[in-house]
Amino acid sequence: MKALVCDRYGPPDVLRLEEVERPTPRDDQVLVKVHASSLNAADLEILGGAAWARIGGPFRPRNKILGSDVAGQVVEIGRNVKRWKKGDAVFGDLFMCGFGAFAEYVAVREDALMLKPDSISFEDAATLPQAAKIALQGLRGRRPLKKGQKVLINGAGGGMGTFAVQIAKYFGAEVTAVDSAGKLEMLRTIGADHVIDYVKEDCTKSGERYDLILDTVTRRSIFEYRRIMAPDGLFVLIGGSRYAIFQAMVLGPFVSIISKKKLGINPWNVNSEEDLRFLLELIEKGMLLPVIDRRIPLDEVPEALRDLSKGLVNGKVVVMIENVDKI
Ligand SMILES: NC(=O)c1ccc[n+]([C@@H]2O[C@H](COP(=O)([O-])OP(=O)(O)OC[C@H]3O[C@@H](n4cnc5c(N)ncnc54)[C@H](OP(=O)(O)O)[C@@H]3O)[C@@H](O)[C@H]2O)c1
Repeated sequence: MKALVCDRYGPPDVLRLEEVERPTPRDDQVLVKVHASSLNAADLEILGGAAWARIGGPFRPRNKILGSDVAGQVVEIGRNVKRWKKGDAVFGDLFMCGFGAFAEYVAVREDALMLKPDSISFEDAATLPQAAKIALQGLRGRRPLKKGQKVLINGAGGGMGTFAVQIAKYFGAEVTAVDSAGKLEMLRTIGADHVIDYVKEDCTKSGERYDLILDTVTRRSIFEYRRIMAPDGLFVLIGGSRYAIFQAMVLGPFVSIISKKKLGINPWNVNSEEDLRFLLELIEKGMLLPVIDRRIPLDEVPEALRDLSKGLVNGKVVVMIENVDKI
């Protein structure tokens, strides 16, 4: 089968499209024929040898094939698999079970997958598992989001942010979206009430007060956000610099004990079926629309990852391995 192989850390150019052996599913796995996958900032971070990625592979990536979002069809089942049969359309997040979706086939543990309804295309399903689920968990995972509450989403124009804006609007929040100038018009069209160009304006000096701040790309000290938090406001870090992650994980809980303002990292439940089911319902009701920047074949993944690293992507890039949606 064809796969995008990554056997060393480096820029996206180290990825090579190669012919490799098709995986054989273990007893608790199914073999999925991949129809679509999508890019996530996490793919870039692994490729670049981020500290967290090196825990599993200090000198070279632990998983030779990246790609954590998968949508496809079950073509083989392991001996102990109960949940799936050949032909089932499935989708899921492979972040905690070996990645591998940038390939024609991937062997996946049966519990990492969910049934894809016929009403949702493979390409839309491939945008959801990581980005939309984390956005949802960031918005309601620590406390329910209430109608009328003010939410600030930093890094709103990316894969996660474009879902977060729409989901926050669904919950009835007043949303301020922060990103670079080129993404602000798109953010208005998906429902943002207010937009801020982070190059021109520092949102922490706006004088506004927010009930929830969701930051997908924290580049500053998380304590700078305290001045724009409502008295019992919540700050949730989804991604950012090592320093900010350290602050949110180690100092955030301490500050949260001594103050009514709460700061912390997002609660992440990789295989939450309940969350994915909720997202599917939103899509089916027409309340959530994945923002797809472009659809690309496997060999264009390196170029698209380069664009993602330069901020040239609005929402998600979908990798179409087998274009069954168009058949
Ligand atoms: N915590 C978890 O559970 C978890 C799991 C997986 C991934 N993540 C993390 O989640 C993060 C977001 O992922 P993603 O896929 O949404 O990334 P993405 O698609 O690259 O989106 C990031 C967005 O932030 C914007 N941005 C960059 N610098 C900014 C700044 N200083 N202020 C405001 N906006 C800025 C980017 O636009 P421009 O470049 O045009 O400025 C881009 O639109 C990543 O850091 C990833 O590691 C977290």
